[in-house]
Amino acid sequence: MSKPRVLITRKIFPEWIDEVKSVADVDLWEDELPPSREILLEKSKGIDGILCLLTDKIDSEFMDNAGSQLKVISQIAVGFDNIDISEATNRGIPVGNTPDVLTATTADATWALLMSAARRITESERFVRRGDWKTWHPLHFLGQDIHSATIGIIGMGRIGFEVAKRANGFGMKILYYDTNRRKDLEEKLDMEYVDFNTVLTDSDYVSLHTVLSEETYHLIGESEFKKMKKTSILVNAARGPVVDSQALYNALKNGDIWGAGLDVTDPEPISKDDPLLKLENCVIVPHIASATVKTRFEMSKISAQNLINGITGEPLVTCVNPEVY
Ligand code: GLV
Repeated sequence: MSKPRVLITRKIFPEWIDEVKSVADVDLWEDELPPSREILLEKSKGIDGILCLLTDKIDSEFMDNAGSQLKVISQIAVGFDNIDISEATNRGIPVGNTPDVLTATTADATWALLMSAARRITESERFVRRGDWKTWHPLHFLGQDIHSATIGIIGMGRIGFEVAKRANGFGMKILYYDTNRRKDLEEKLDMEYVDFNTVLTDSDYVSLHTVLSEETYHLIGESEFKKMKKTSILVNAARGPVVDSQALYNALKNGDIWGAGLDVTDPEPISKDDPLLKLENCVIVPHIASATVKTRFEMSKISAQNLINGITGEPLVTCVNPEVY
């Protein structure tokens, strides 16, 4: 009997590709860049499963094109806004993601961004590399204190909570807003549930940890920046479109806020001509919050296991839409 056919849309840790090869015929897209839409559709015709990335749009057209034998969509990421989940659910296709293994790593990276923006690390590093460092100066590169400041976390899920735990170590006051109040977590950590506006007005650092949805699209725009402290810093390690990029640029340029640390942008990748890249008070890294050796290995493992389980009819290890079962 022929093996099931699967498409893997980018290289992952080779051990886990080999694992998939033990049960399936694997078509691996080896380029650094994502397959074009045309190639993605062409390669997915007749497949039993796909291991995809957040750069692959998995919608009804994709599912129609793949065919009714498609048994699993396994995403190597915790977020899945590139996948039409209700469409997959209607068709009985389980969708896997890679939560938990990246939670602490992503929280660490959030802190790296927060601290870089607050203490002007990337800006002053550029200054040193340019050969501009001539002397120690009492008024050079003055940043914002982190210890004892107030952090406002928007989205108190797994990553938001890990960010809060680290804030505790800095002796910070922790505010949070989420559509669900998390009293269970408030019992574990001294943090205060406040409304959305209060997070904006009272925080020195506003850190975003929401999913991207219709409700959170441009959640932070011009009027939100106007409410924030002029000394405040916005950190986004969630999804680029949660922030209105033009409004962010204006807020940083006009001094409505003091700085920003971004793991994600809108669009991704950000164009090298984007005006945000001209601003010294904006730290931008290329969506790398979960990028450590250990975490990406674990993400490779879980996404491969989800793919294998899906094509062999076993429940996924981590399933976004368990109602298909
Ligand atoms: C990365 O952004 C992820 O969702 O894992």
